[in-house]
Amino acid sequence: MYHEKAQNAVDRLLTQKDVTILAIESSCDETAAAIVKNGRQVLAHSMYTQIAIHAEYGGVVPEIASRNHLEKLPYVVEDALRQAGMTFQDVDAFAVTAGPGLVGALLTGVSYAKAAAYAAGKPLIAVNHMEGHIAANYITFPELEPPFICLVVSGGHTEIVHAMGYGNYQLLGSTRDDAAGEAFDKVARALGLKYPGGPNLQKLAEEGDPYAYEFPKSFRGEKHLDFSFSGIKTAVINLLNTMDMRGETYRRADVAASFQRTVTELLVKNTFLAAQRTGLNQVAIAGGVSANAALRKAAQEEAEKRHMQLYVPKLLYCTDNAAMIGAAAYFELKKNALAAPLSLNADPSMDIDLA
Ligand code: KG4
Ligand code: ZN
Repeated sequence: MYHEKAQNAVDRLLTQKDVTILAIESSCDETAAAIVKNGRQVLAHSMYTQIAIHAEYGGVVPEIASRNHLEKLPYVVEDALRQAGMTFQDVDAFAVTAGPGLVGALLTGVSYAKAAAYAAGKPLIAVNHMEGHIAANYITFPELEPPFICLVVSGGHTEIVHAMGYGNYQLLGSTRDDAAGEAFDKVARALGLKYPGGPNLQKLAEEGDPYAYEFPKSFRGEKHLDFSFSGIKTAVINLLNTMDMRGETYRRADVAASFQRTVTELLVKNTFLAAQRTGLNQVAIAGGVSANAALRKAAQEEAEKRHMQLYVPKLLYCTDNAAMIGAAAYFELKKNALAAPLSLNADPSMDIDLA
């Protein structure tokens, strides 16, 4: 009964001029809700970050993350509705991150969203978190339209995709081992930096010489556009251990800056190669690591050199947030026109929707 009604509502939304979606994100350590109009316009945005809680443990503790999502979700949703001056009845649909992410964390959001959609008698749209990251660019750049190349770099993923249409992707390259964000986090920990590693490493690197050390780069000049970061990470950790053992002094900032430069060069090189090979001149970056200033700068320089257009989300929408989920949900709705069933489950290893 509910599902039939929800599916009918989706069919009506396909022809409706404006579609307003209330989106929920809880895949990792940010509890977020947002209200987004037509996939581009953020009407409200609320977020509770658990960073301070997990910092004590040096990383995200899944069980603690789930419990905090459960506690904070009602408040971020209420806050988003208050900001927009809306009630559940004023939104056209609900959206939620169904995967990939931490299973318990995802489940809190999925359960909440199912209950809300059911209570309001509105459709629910299941969103892939990585497609959400890509869609963050549609918010920052209202004029951006596919096709474009997108480098998606987060704590768990590193992929180069060809966005052929809205929600329509082809995978051109990915990491064979660590994700870029994971490498940042592990090297940050070896440097004695606190969680979250990426932003803290960036801060330290600002005082260092990016050319002080050379670290090995894997897959240089290969035909494929894959990445490997574990070799660089191991080289940095070995360097730090050797120096410690010999009692040599090393400038941690130089190590951080050299590591950041190496990873950035690899990411930028393969991404623009992908653009060149596909004949596209629009390049986007998305995901938590797209907040990195060195990466943004290097990508901008490369884009200018090649006369290409670079798109990087506003900092607020680089790391996990619900606005990007609301944006992706709109395009998902337009593409697949499917209301999620009440049996929707969290899928911790959900793949991006490939063509
Ligand atoms: O997209 P995100 O917020 O969560 C996931 O979906 O994983 O990405 C988090 C990742 C972490 O590895 C974090 O260290 C990294 O993004 N990150 C950064 C920066 N800000 C976040 N890495 C380098 N520099 C940054 N400024
Ligand atoms: Zn993310």
